[in-house]
This record gives sequence, structure tokens and C-alpha cells, in this order.
Amino acid sequence: MKILILGGGGREHALAWAIKQNPKCDELLCAPGNGGIADIATCHSIDIENPKEVVQFAKAQSIDFVIIGPEAPLVLGVSDALRAADILTFGPSQAAAKLEASKNFTKEVCTKAKAPTAAYAYFTDVKSAKEYIQTQGAPIVIKADGLAAGKGVVVAMDVKTALNAVENMFVGDFGAAGRKVVVEEFMKGEEASFFVLCDGLNAVPIGTAQDHKRVGNGDTGANTGGMGAYSPTPILDHAMVQKTLDQIVIPTLKVLNDSKTPYQGVLYVGLMIKDNQPRLVEYNVRFGDPECQVLMMRLGAQALDLIEATARGMLEGEKVNWADDHAITVVMAAKGYPDTYQKGSVISGLEALPKDAKNMCFHAGTKASDVGLTANGGRVLNITARGDSLKEARDRAYAMADQVDWPEGFYRTDIGWRAL
Ligand code: AMP
Ligand code: GLY
Repeated sequence: MKILILGGGGREHALAWAIKQNPKCDELLCAPGNGGIADIATCHSIDIENPKEVVQFAKAQSIDFVIIGPEAPLVLGVSDALRAADILTFGPSQAAAKLEASKNFTKEVCTKAKAPTAAYAYFTDVKSAKEYIQTQGAPIVIKADGLAAGKGVVVAMDVKTALNAVENMFVGDFGAAGRKVVVEEFMKGEEASFFVLCDGLNAVPIGTAQDHKRVGNGDTGANTGGMGAYSPTPILDHAMVQKTLDQIVIPTLKVLNDSKTPYQGVLYVGLMIKDNQPRLVEYNVRFGDPECQVLMMRLGAQALDLIEATARGMLEGEKVNWADDHAITVVMAAKGYPDTYQKGSVISGLEALPKDAKNMCFHAGTKASDVGLTANGGRVLNITARGDSLKEARDRAYAMADQVDWPEGFYRTDIGWRAL
């Protein structure tokens, strides 16, 4: 098979790494890719958010299978365009991608599915939103309805912060995405995420993970795209996974299927767990980044078989061969991230790192240049390792991170602390 992966982050490097190990993959292309992906695939700079351009490229290259990594192309209809051109594609339709593109849509689906989630109200004017917040009190959560690059959520611990947040959203902090707002009950508990491959009505769980969203040790400081993750997460044990499938995932798939927008792809199920009960925080229509890195490390080559079965609508009866092990990934980011940071600093020492089924440095924002490998983004490297225990995986990942020579980078030193 000639396979094209869309995306250029650590998530796509991990996907490429796992897929490349499967003998079914004859040739691997990636657009746009990055400095690490370039070692195992040919990278092409096309506009992956332009459905026409993607279809043209895939046809010109005689691609057999397209795997879409990030949400933006999905939300813009790239998967629909590819399927309309008879190209096998992994990733939900534009209509089903609303699960990530609109918080209000997800809430409506949850209501129909009777899936446990936070109570909410939806507003398209600032006055009613503020009145509602006054009657509800704090803590309370304000969410821009549309995509806001992960920054559209304010967890307000007091009413003043909540009122400010809606005001800012309505004056256009998040563009059109913010002029519709979901105001939501604050949920206490422990967060974890759960990943499920779906081909309409069939659902095959492919792992649990816990991300570390705050920039600093001990979960302090600003929110980021994720500073590290590990899998599996103990709070999502077998019983909790089953409960999440029965109460949240399967009813959601049924609602989508009944409304003629069946879901095909990976469903990222963000959960808050308290008193042995999972509640939905959010859905995303793609793999998490960096959660994908730990999932791929544990799945290896079979990831391609599973992803292909999903795209072909043949998930029924598919099983994952689990090794009873653990994986962890530590994100190395450019100093200053998630605020302003410099691009272009040189990273060395990567050649000496082990590269095998248990240790990998996945690249996120890197670029090959005349002076060597340079940083080309906020989150730059994902040092990923696997072990019989989480501690073994962690020790191995941090030993690798210590070997990277990148004075302009930093990383959290406590990834996995909740489980350890
Ligand atoms: P979201 O983009 O919906 O995942 O929200 C981003 C983050 O905000 C989540 O990962 C949670 O940490 C937090 N959050 C979102 N909704 C709630 C809620 N209803 N209660 C408590 N925390 C929340
Ligand atoms: N790591 C969080 C996300 O991918 O949304």
C-alpha cells in the first residue's frame, strides 16, 4: 500500500513510525511532515487544509490510503473530498467532525444519547450568558463554541472571572468561535482520556492515557497543548472502560448513525472521573498529541491493520494484541512556550539516542537545516519510551531526555506523577 499521512507533529511522526513497521506499507508519504518524519517518509509541502489540493496530490501520487492526523482538515471536509474521489481515508466526515468543531453540537448529542456530562446552557448573546452565570455562581466553565486552538475554555473559580471571560469571547477574543458560548457546570475529579476506533457503530478501544496540560511541574502554570502523557492510566481500568463505552461512546455513535452522520475514525474521549463514574469533558475527532505517541509505542505495527479496518468499515470482531506494558512520552518545548518562543535554535545529541521498539524520539516542531536540526515550533520533541512498568518507562525516557543537547529547550520532570 502507498500511504499518505496528513500532518506534521509528534502525533504524525508516531503514526508514521508505527505504520512503517507494518509490511503492508510499501511506501510512505507525509504532508507536510517534519524533520523527524523525513527519515522514514518523503515529505511534501501541500496545503492539507485545501480539500481539492489534497485530492489532486493523492491522485497524482496514486495513493491507496490517506490517514488524517489533525482536526483542521477534517473540519474543512478533506475526508469527504477524498472519499468522493474513491480514495480510502481514515478520519470522520466534516459533519461528524462537528463533535470537535462545536461544543454545543457535542452537548446536544450527549443529551440525545443520555451520556453523562456537565449540565450546560448555550448562549449567542452576552447579556443572557452573564445573567445565567450570576444565577449559577462559581466555579463555572466558559467555552467558546467553535475551534479556538485549545484556548477557548476558561475554568472560572469566581464569578468575576467568568463574566470577564464571556465578555472577552463576545468582543472577539476567539473570532466567530467565541460569539457563541457554552456555559458549563464545573466538574471535579481526575481527568483521563480514552481512544476508540469507530467505523459507524463498531467501537474498538485502543488505549487510555493521561495528558499533562500545564506547562510546569506539579500541574502548575499556563495551559499548553500537552507536556507529556502516559498509557495506560490506572483510573481507566477495565470496568471504567466498559462503563465509558456503554454509557458514553456507544450511545453517541448510535445518535450520530441515526442522524445519518456515522462516525469513522478515532474518537478521543476526554473524561472526568469521580466516585467511580466517568463524565464526558470533550470529544476530539483525532488522536491526542502527545497521547498518540504513547498509544503508537504500545500498538506498534498492528496500528495500521486497525486503522485500515476502521476506514474500510470492518472493525467488527477486530482485537488489539496488548502487551502488558506501559509507555510514557516527555515533551521537550522551546523556552517561553506556550507564550512567545524563538525558532531556529540548534538541537544536537539525537543521533546517539536509541531508536527501537522501546525507545523513540518523535519529532514535533523540528526542521532540518544547513546548521543541523533546528527547533521550528513550541513543542519540539517527544521523548517516548516503553517498559514493563511505568517507572521503567519513565526512567528510560528521562535518561534519553538528559542526553539531548538543546540549551533553548525545557521539559517537565514529573510526567506520570499521578500514577507513580
Ligand atoms: P476542553 O477543551 O473542553 O477539553 O477543555 C479544556 C480543559 O478544561 C479540560 O481538559 C479540563 O481540564 C477543563 N474543563 C473543561 N470542561 C470542564 C468542566 N466542565 N469542569 C471542569 N473542568 C473542565
Ligand atoms: N493533548 C491534548 C490534545 O491533543 O487535545
